[in-house]
Amino acid sequence: TGLAAQRYCRSCFQKSNTDRTVLIMDKTQTIPFESAQEFLVMRNLYESAVKQLALKFEILNSEFNIQYSRNPIHHIESRVKSAQSILAKLTKKGMPFTIATAKENINDIAGVRNYIDDVYRVAEIFERQRDVEILKKQDYIKEPNYNGYRSLHLDIRIPVYLSDRTEYVVAEIQLRTIAMDFWASLEHDIRYKVDKTKLPEGINEEMFDCAGKIAEIDRQMQDMYRRIKAAEKS
Ligand code: GTP
Ligand code: MG
Repeated sequence: TGLAAQRYCRSCFQKSNTDRTVLIMDKTQTIPFESAQEFLVMRNLYESAVKQLALKFEILNSEFNIQYSRNPIHHIESRVKSAQSILAKLTKKGMPFTIATAKENINDIAGVRNYIDDVYRVAEIFERQRDVEILKKQDYIKEPNYNGYRSLHLDIRIPVYLSDRTEYVVAEIQLRTIAMDFWASLEHDIRYKVDKTKLPEGINEEMFDCAGKIAEIDRQMQDMYRRIKAAEKS
């Protein structure tokens, strides 16, 4: 175990009785990890990727602000998946909890979510960046999820330049409007928090219906914005 691991992670790593380093998740659960140092190296890598990605969107936003007096990106949220969530996802896939399996099989250890007016415009600009490699694109706006969920998901890979090597890091970018997020938050609560047997009848249908209405309002707002701009120019 490296020095850094001992220094920064004294509280979450501990020697087990087999003298193996274990990562303490909470009071009841411990997860064996190859080494605390390796875990920190991995986390640092994904944190670096997330910083770089968030910065890319911030740069676009400030440019838009100067060029067009407009901020198409309202808010940027980024996170690195917690060890608990990584474990949960690997367990669901029936895979062992190792750094290698996590890196290979989880595309959203690094995640950035942007709330944008004009999702496609920003996506197109982002996709053109030469260091961004698009691995997968899931367009839940053109083809909404079964429940009405809408968002544009990009699984991408970007280089992270370290002192002695370049690592290519996979990340998931979610682009959506504020209205889509308003819907997704409630849907997420329903899905994960509410006791399903207590769901009022017809809620799923109502959610689906709301998703359609929200999409319609998004389109209308976009269209109004375009008309206002066009009128200004004429
Ligand atoms: P992974 O990306 O490997 O998890 O599988 P996938 O590509 O099939 O998943 P997808 O890209 O569709 O979903 C990834 C994330 O998008 C989820 O973790 C959620 O944050 C979000 N998401 C996808 N579908 C829904 C949905 O129906 N409702 C809500 N609230 N969020 C969703
Ligand atoms: Mg995905």
